[in-house]
Amino acid sequence: MTTIINIAIDGPAGAGKSTVAKLVAEHLSYLYIDTGAMYRTLAYAAIQHKVDVQDGSALKALLDTITIQLINEEEGTKVFVNDQDVTTDIRTAEVNQYVPQVASHEAVRLEMVERQRKLAMEGNSILDGRDIGTHVLPDAKLKVFLTASVDVRAERRHEEQIKKGMPSNVEELKKEIAKRDELDSTRAVAPLRKASDAVELDTTSLSIADVVDAIIDLVKRPVL
Ligand code: DC
Repeated sequence: MTTIINIAIDGPAGAGKSTVAKLVAEHLSYLYIDTGAMYRTLAYAAIQHKVDVQDGSALKALLDTITIQLINEEEGTKVFVNDQDVTTDIRTAEVNQYVPQVASHEAVRLEMVERQRKLAMEGNSILDGRDIGTHVLPDAKLKVFLTASVDVRAERRHEEQIKKGMPSNVEELKKEIAKRDELDSTRAVAPLRKASDAVELDTTSLSIADVVDAIIDLVKRPVL
């Protein structure tokens, strides 16, 4: 029997999780699973179908009607909801605003976690999110908790948005990131938290390459 290896990368918005996770996955030929994109897709669908983001059972009912596919391509992960490409639609300010509320409902999280575990069983994989080390994959071989100052995280998001040709305002991003940190860390169900056995990496003054190298070293470290 071959053992599937899973790596969990958690941390607040803009800590560099997805960029780093994608590069580590490429280097190790692992599957990259962006769990935030799944919550974003549901938030987008809720906006489209005018479902109240405070209503957990309505959101769960909506989730039951949709398939979410994450397809890794050279340029990044493409996200499809019921075969509709929503890759850029799930990154708007409106989705940013609603997604923490969508992600706060227990019924939604239980279903998402189940879908994420299924994906993680497809092969060696690296998942990024908020609760991967604490809930989704408590037995992951390696757990990393990435952090960085709010200012640096806002600057990074700003550059990303500009690169994608999307409108961006760094001061607004700082406020939005601080707000999202608060909502993600204080929600009752599976709040953003470092797992007790996770390795914490503060990326404030590290380059992407430094963080990727540090994680690859951790993956290769001998098991004691
Ligand atoms: O990583 P991101 O910014 O794309 O995440 C979008 C939102 O989804 C964010 O508010 C936190 C939430 N999320 C979560 O609660 N659990 C996860 N495993 C991933 C994301």
